[in-house]
Amino acid sequence: MPKIIISGKGGCGKSTLTTLLSKQISANCNKVLVVDVDESNLSLATMLGLETPNISLLDYLGGRTKIVEELMNAMRNNTKGAVPIFDKKLNLSNLPPQCSYWNGNIGLVRVGKIQHSMEGCACPMGAVARSFLNELVIEDNQWVLVDTDAGVEHFGRGVLEGADLIIMVVDTSYESILLAEKGKKLAEEAQKNFKVVLNKVNDKTKPILYKELTHRNIPIIGCLNYSHDIIWTNLIGKSSELGELEDEISNIFSEVSNSFNLV
Ligand SMILES: Nc1ncnc2c1ncn2[C@@H]1O[C@H](COP(=O)(O)OP(=O)(O)OP(=O)(O)O)[C@@H](O)[C@H]1O
Ligand SMILES: [Mg+2]
Repeated sequence: MPKIIISGKGGCGKSTLTTLLSKQISANCNKVLVVDVDESNLSLATMLGLETPNISLLDYLGGRTKIVEELMNAMRNNTKGAVPIFDKKLNLSNLPPQCSYWNGNIGLVRVGKIQHSMEGCACPMGAVARSFLNELVIEDNQWVLVDTDAGVEHFGRGVLEGADLIIMVVDTSYESILLAEKGKKLAEEAQKNFKVVLNKVNDKTKPILYKELTHRNIPIIGCLNYSHDIIWTNLIGKSSELGELEDEISNIFSEVSNSFNLV
């Protein structure tokens, strides 16, 4: 049922959390669609153990030039809010097959990647992501996890509009703490539920993050320890497995399920 944005600073573990949580969701017999809205990074399909879909949503819709034209038209016409790039409701069964790759309960779509030097900004990808999430209707036993690009640009672009929850991943850095504070404020402005998951922690760093975030009234729904297995599988280009983080991911899954009354 929930559509969840996974957010956070560069390298904090967004794609890792997206991958592990999707595996946990799938292990609980729920269907999960992972939406890759990061216009740069390339390895999410590998982390998930999936093939890359044949084409991106952007290419399916006619490519960046066409979407830029639609955005310009909307600006000329003074259209307020999201540009309705997808003109009908979508669900997990009617996604264009060339844009999605499924293995069992886990599916992947990619919004679009930067393909050429000097091609221009990532606005078209942001607009496609926003419209896609707005139009996507999911059933009770279905989840959507949105793996985002680093920072808070997707907040500004309104990608979060169609989401039910934003989970920000906080690693062991002051920048992450400040970004969580900012993410909470931006989420409140958009009237979205906001929670954080700590990542790459150990016994020394975990209490410091708890103290700093609690002091800022930022709700923490889980915590992932620093894991050598994660580093290793990521280095050699293998699918990331729950492994030594299984219990922690299972707790995060329960927390989110409980907050949506899914259990
Ligand atoms: N719990 C963890 N323990 C150890 N290493 C981790 C952990 N989580 C993530 N990493 C490592 O940190 C690096 C960044 O992880 P990941 O790609 O998930 O971050 P990201 O936030 O998606 O990055 P980007 O901003 O580039 O999209 C990877 O090398 C990954 O293996
Ligand atoms: Mg990533």
